Amino acid sequence: MIDYTFEKKTNIMSLLEDLQWRYATKKMNGAKIPQEKLDYILEAARMSPSSSGLQPYKIIVVSDPALLEKIKGIAYNQTQITDCSHLLIFAAWDGYSDERVSEVFNYMMDERGLPHSKMDAYKQTILALYETKGTEWQAHHAAKQSYIAFAMAIAAAAEQKVDATPIEGFIPEKLDELLKLKESGYHSTVLLPLGYREAEQDWLVNMKKVRTPKDIFVTEMTIADAADLQEAPVNVSLDSFTQK
Ligand SMILES: Cc1cc2nc3c(=O)[nH]c(=O)nc-3n(C[C@H](O)[C@H](O)[C@H](O)COP(=O)(O)O)c2cc1C
Repeated sequence: MIDYTFEKKTNIMSLLEDLQWRYATKKMNGAKIPQEKLDYILEAARMSPSSSGLQPYKIIVVSDPALLEKIKGIAYNQTQITDCSHLLIFAAWDGYSDERVSEVFNYMMDERGLPHSKMDAYKQTILALYETKGTEWQAHHAAKQSYIAFAMAIAAAAEQKVDATPIEGFIPEKLDELLKLKESGYHSTVLLPLGYREAEQDWLVNMKKVRTPKDIFVTEMTIADAADLQEAPVNVSLDSFTQK
């Protein structure tokens, strides 16, 4: 068992402080991060919630300099790709099939000591719903799930004082080709190099963190602000698990 308590905080503000500390590191120094910190960050991503618990994504870890060099070219020569310690590549399912969904749900039921049939009604409901949306929507839906895990990894890295750069600036089709992702039904969504900042050469390190002001970012609504919808609510229940 990995000891995840090695940098445990007592301050209740610690998450917000960690998020203030982190920034999209522009220049990394090539130093390696300890294996236990990498494991911690990956575990935070693995523990991420996902729609129906399907986790329609995975993380590919690359530290091989030759492969990183190739990926840098696909990522518009962003130097964090080759100066990082480990590159996390988030990859999502191309679509939802009966086979894929059944595999996850069957595993879930096995782990919980329940019969596979317990999920049948729910599985049929979501597969029928996803079918109507088409494969492009499905790939996009899976990609969105991967971003939740991505955010967890960013927060976990900050907590461990590991620098990270969220990167969407790359050509996904090229990366998929390089890593032969299509063959296994995946497509790359987003990258996260992990490592340590080279502060002297990083133009962003001392810049003020700027975010949308809270009063614009957060809006409260009541029924008085809502539209008067005339259509009847959809007659489908996603609660079929508990009904069985
Ligand atoms: C999905 C996503 C994609 C991003 N892509 C890149 C990128 O390709 N290269 C880069 O240097 N920064 C990238 N960023 C970093 C953002 O520019 C940065 O997070 C934002 O300006 C806020 O600054 P901060 O992260 O330093 O607080 C990306 C961020 C996110 C969340």
